[in-house]
Amino acid sequence: MEKFYVTTPIYYVNDRPHIGHAYTTVLADVLARYNRSLGKDTFFLTGTDEHGQKVQNAAEKHGISPQQHCDETVLRFQELWKKLGITCDRFIRTTQAEHKRVVQEVLQDLYDRGEIYKADYTGWYCVGDERFFTEKDLVDGKCPECGREVTAITESNYFFRMSKYQDWLIDHIKNHPDFILPAFRANETLGFLKKPLADLCISRPKSRLSWGIELPFDQDYVTYVWFDALLNYVSGVGYRTDDEKFNRWWPATCELIGKDILTTHTVYWPTMLKAMDLPLPKTIFAHGWWLTGNQKMSKSLGNVVNPMDMIERAGVDAFRYFLMAEMSLGNDANFTEETFISRYNSDLANDLGNLLSRVVKLTIRATGGTIPAASSLNADDQELLDAVKNAVDSMGSSLENYKLDQGIAAALNAVRAGNRYLEKCAPWTLAKNGETERLHTVLSTAANAIFKVAVLLAPVMPEKMSELVTALGGKEMPVIADLASHPGISGWVMNDLPPLFPRIIEEKPEAAPAPKKAEKAPKAEKKSAPEAKAEIPGVITIDDFKRTELRTAKVLKAEKVEGADKLLKLEIELGSEVRQIVSGIAPWYAPEALVGKMIIVVANLQKAKIRGIESNGMLLAAKCGDTLSLITPDKEIDSGILVG
Ligand code: MSP
Repeated sequence: MEKFYVTTPIYYVNDRPHIGHAYTTVLADVLARYNRSLGKDTFFLTGTDEHGQKVQNAAEKHGISPQQHCDETVLRFQELWKKLGITCDRFIRTTQAEHKRVVQEVLQDLYDRGEIYKADYTGWYCVGDERFFTEKDLVDGKCPECGREVTAITESNYFFRMSKYQDWLIDHIKNHPDFILPAFRANETLGFLKKPLADLCISRPKSRLSWGIELPFDQDYVTYVWFDALLNYVSGVGYRTDDEKFNRWWPATCELIGKDILTTHTVYWPTMLKAMDLPLPKTIFAHGWWLTGNQKMSKSLGNVVNPMDMIERAGVDAFRYFLMAEMSLGNDANFTEETFISRYNSDLANDLGNLLSRVVKLTIRATGGTIPAASSLNADDQELLDAVKNAVDSMGSSLENYKLDQGIAAALNAVRAGNRYLEKCAPWTLAKNGETERLHTVLSTAANAIFKVAVLLAPVMPEKMSELVTALGGKEMPVIADLASHPGISGWVMNDLPPLFPRIIEEKPEAAPAPKKAEKAPKAEKKSAPEAKAEIPGVITIDDFKRTELRTAKVLKAEKVEGADKLLKLEIELGSEVRQIVSGIAPWYAPEALVGKMIIVVANLQKAKIRGIESNGMLLAAKCGDTLSLITPDKEIDSGILVG
């Protein structure tokens, strides 16, 4: 059976869990649930990083032992993961005896084989990052990672011969395009490896730091916290303690990390594994950051809403959904309360919740609740079936390619197709006219479509999708692997349950200045699910706008389309993705003038064929008379960034 072993970084135990921790852990959970649902043998490891200076300092401040401090603070993570429905197979703590023993055995083995040696060393130490830097690493004399002051320290320490693996590592990265993803992160590591690689200092004298794993060959030292922490990925699945288990899971299929811990994972970790004579993980995937404005969102930031508060406000599953749907894997994303509420109201309350409640109510009215069977299908039915099939296929490929947000978008497209289908087929009119056979076909097709979408979205929203299946009359959630052979849900008896996703009414600040009398806008009615239509014809709501996904893109290549004077074929970069679009801008732009240009594209436009050439997106341009001007960002900005 194919296996899937996924890991998250292990989190510093004395941090308060924030959106960064929650994001990676939910992502790993969703991937683990998908892979289980696809029938793969799956293992999911997460945990906490419990040694080092920061823990020692915090424990001293509270007047307790470091272990006691860890035992108390680890609960914050464990409780949050329980609340978020995290299905990890193991939660590892680096203070567990088994892990400590593995670290010591690895150290002893590397020391015995001359991979670790002792030397005098002068380096620049950053207390915040617990890392030594060489003179040339410093930026303006400060820590290159966090910008804080560094202190010069000379001491005897132990070193891992990392430098000798430099050429091997470069080759490995070049020969394994899936090893570091997205591909631009592999380039970042290769860039780092252009400078000579130093050996890695893997010890700390106890006189300076005692909270760590003692070196087995020198009691005056403890192990550098990163050397200890990285080993969790193997100790967590039985390395040196349970060979059968270890051989079953190692090497990991996917190690998820944030982009800030790329060097430790793509330079230290692979060279350590090489020295240990172990194979490397298949993929190390570095995701982007949740930002507020331009700042990394980790600690609470002034008056910005704490993303974690949205769990209470909107529910666990809506929180999970937002994290997965909003961030394109690999790129940064912005978190704001407005975006959260808007996506919740539009995707979940309006589109999905609305479709379910309409189908349940119509079926109860038509048959008392029993889902009827479909008879002959027409083009409208087929269109909905196609949208669902496309969602199933897209989800499969987006999982393979680490583009989860696209699989989710395809599922939501199927939901929207379901709502359009009801509008078009008007089952309420069919019921009024007594066209029972057609009515039954429409209700059956719609109910089966929702059911399949629910199975697809269950790994993202396990609780809510189970409720949805219960509302359709199902007893349990099938796995995705069984979807193709599922007989369908005709005959199930529906239950009319309360709305799955009640609409969230945005709270406006009370002290907002009142508009002047003459311009006073009509008071917004408190709307209940499902409709959120704009009141004025031709005017759209923010939810309508949010359906158009505009993103920044960089033109990589441009060429004329043979036999079409107006058309150019462009290859564009959207974050980690490369796409092709065809655009009618040849009369205004020479292909070579476009290469390197940043543009704005509609990224979620259905693919089209123009003169037989596939076009996946549309660029934005303004045309006035004979002039056409491309819309471009006015500052330097990455590609793939959401515009809105
Ligand atoms: N203990 C180390 C990891 C050792 S793994 C062998 C560590 N821990 S951490 O608690 O500081 O951070 C863990 C993860 O949170 C990192 O992957 C980091 O990228 C992620 N995030 C922290 N803030 C973040 C955002 N605002 N957005 C997304 N993830 C970010 O590093």
